[in-house]
Formats: sequence, structure tokens, C-alpha cells
Amino acid sequence: MDLTIVGCGYVGLALAERLQLRRPQLKLTLTTTSSERLEHLSSLADRVRVCDATNPAQLLDALRQSSSAVFCLGPKGDRQVDANGYRHTFVNSFRCLKSLLPELPNLRQILYTGSCSVYGDAQGGWVDEQTPPDPGRGHGDVLLESEQLLNSIGDRRVCILRLGALYGPGRDLDRRLRGLAGLERPGSGGSYSNWLHVADAAGALEAAVDGEWTGVVNVVNDEPIRLRDLVERSLQRQGLAPVHWLGQDDPSSAGRRIRNTRLKQLGYQLQHPSVDHSGVFASSQVP
Ligand SMILES: NC(=O)c1ccc[n+]([C@@H]2O[C@H](COP(=O)([O-])OP(=O)(O)OC[C@H]3O[C@@H](n4cnc5c(N)ncnc54)[C@H](OP(=O)(O)O)[C@@H]3O)[C@@H](O)[C@H]2O)c1
Repeated sequence: MDLTIVGCGYVGLALAERLQLRRPQLKLTLTTTSSERLEHLSSLADRVRVCDATNPAQLLDALRQSSSAVFCLGPKGDRQVDANGYRHTFVNSFRCLKSLLPELPNLRQILYTGSCSVYGDAQGGWVDEQTPPDPGRGHGDVLLESEQLLNSIGDRRVCILRLGALYGPGRDLDRRLRGLAGLERPGSGGSYSNWLHVADAAGALEAAVDGEWTGVVNVVNDEPIRLRDLVERSLQRQGLAPVHWLGQDDPSSAGRRIRNTRLKQLGYQLQHPSVDHSGVFASSQVP
């Protein structure tokens, strides 16, 4: 099998490293939009290509030899981009992909790392893949449009993995939360978030390729967690002062609890079922 990973940021790189270690026989193509990253990526793959997925010639070149493609795209740069930036990255890339499919008869499988943000706020309730997405306007709306574009591809196996919020080496939760120690914060911290270790993002992607998964799969850990619990556990573990929550939460921003039943039914076993399962809060994990 030949596989292309389009977009080698946090998730794409973790997948490439995993495949290099576990599947050395796989013919792997990696892409980057910046020529400065070519050298680093070339140690992980058979082919590395400069490719902006909105550029038809570059995307065709990156996918031409592959039977499977994993799209791990995200807007470029460190700054938060607006919905138009999202549209350019996701919608324009998938439009480009669709236009190229007649020239890519060997590309049988397309996977995309989407986001659970398409569910919108469920006021703390549970959602699964059967729950109609309700992202509201903005970023989530664009991500839903991107999914719809992929779902309209009729003759290839398409799988959309809706990832939870990512953490892991380089995006360590303790480091991200320690600045809150001793602060006063509005609300009661009651809103739910849903997390995923980057190793499980890569693991689920490999399983999806091997198992020829199709449709939508939520890829989150087993434990939706309230913000106050996430923060409290981390600060306690680090021996830091707790946050003082000042009042009530807005009921319309209680978050949602994402079910991962389908992920389990497909046979995937999480390496990190909860954020503190693997000692992610331990300082030895800080890269
Ligand atoms: N991060 C999270 O917490 C999170 C949560 C839920 C879902 N997700 C999903 O997972 C995706 C990947 O997340 P991530 O954290 O790995 O993102 P990331 O670290 O920002 O990596 C995304 C990569 O996409 C590449 N890219 C950007 N624009 C491109 C384009 N037009 N054509 C081709 N490649 C392009 C960039 O590679 P180069 O810089 O090498 O060009 C970038 O490194 C997200 O976009 C989202 O859909 C992420």
C-alpha cells in the first residue's frame, strides 16, 4: 500500500513517526507547504513533496502514487485564524481534491482529521455520530461544510475522524494550565471538554487505514471532563494554588460529552483513556 499524509503538523507528524516505526514496508509520501521542512520530513518517508492542497498540480503530484490519503490539515501559523482562513485551508483543499479525483483512479481511501467542534454546544449533554451536527456560525460551520464536501465523494472510501482537543508531548496540559494557579476566573468551570492524546490520534488513524473504516468516527478519550476538574487536578498535581471560580456558568456554554462507542466497536483500544491515565500531568512527561 502507498499512503500520503497531507499536512504534517502535530497529528500528521505523529502518524508518520508511528508508521515509520511500525510499518517500514509502507511507501509513505509526506507533504509540507514550506521547503524548509523538507529535509526534516525526508528522514521519515520515501517521498516528501512541497504541497499546498489548494494547488491542483502540487496535490496531484503528492497523491498520484498513493492508494490512501490522510488529510491532517490545519491553518498555517501560530495565530488563531478566522473562519475565512479555515475556509481557505479546508474547503478549498477538498474542492481541489474532488476536482482531481478523475485523475486519481488508484486513490481508493481518503481519511480526514476533522473536529468534534461540529457538534456545537449540547448544554453538557451526550452526543454521538448520530447526533445532527449543530456548529453555529464560524469555524465549526466551515468544518461541517468540509465534511459535507468529502461525504459527497461517491466512489471512494471516505472516513472522517472527529478528533477531541489534542494534548501530548509538545502540547503538555500541565504547562498550558499552570498559568491559572491562584487566579480568579468567571463562572464555575462547569463546561465539558473532550480530550485526545496525540498518540491515540495517530493510533486511530493507522487503525482506520488498516480497517478500511468509513463514515464518521468520534476519536476522543473515555472521560469528558469539566474545566474545573481538569484545572484542579493539574494544579494539585503540580503543587500549585487552585483557581477561584467566581460564579455561575452560562447554560448555553456547558459544552458536550462526546461518546466514543463507535471507536470501540471498530476495535480501537485507547492508549490514554483519560488525561491523567498515563501520568500526562507528571513533569517527567514535559518534553
Ligand atoms: N489541534 C487540536 O487540538 C485539534 C482538535 C480537534 C481536531 N483537530 C483536527 O486535526 C487537524 C490537524 O491538527 P494539528 O494539531 O495536527 O494541526 P497543525 O499542527 O496546525 O498542522 C496542520 C498542518 O497542515 C499543513 N497545512 C496547512 N495548510 C495547508 C494547505 N493549504 N495544504 C497542505 N497542508 C497545509 C501545515 O503543514 P506545513 O506547515 O508543513 O505546511 C500544518 O503543519 C486540525 O486542523 C483539525 O481538523 C485538531
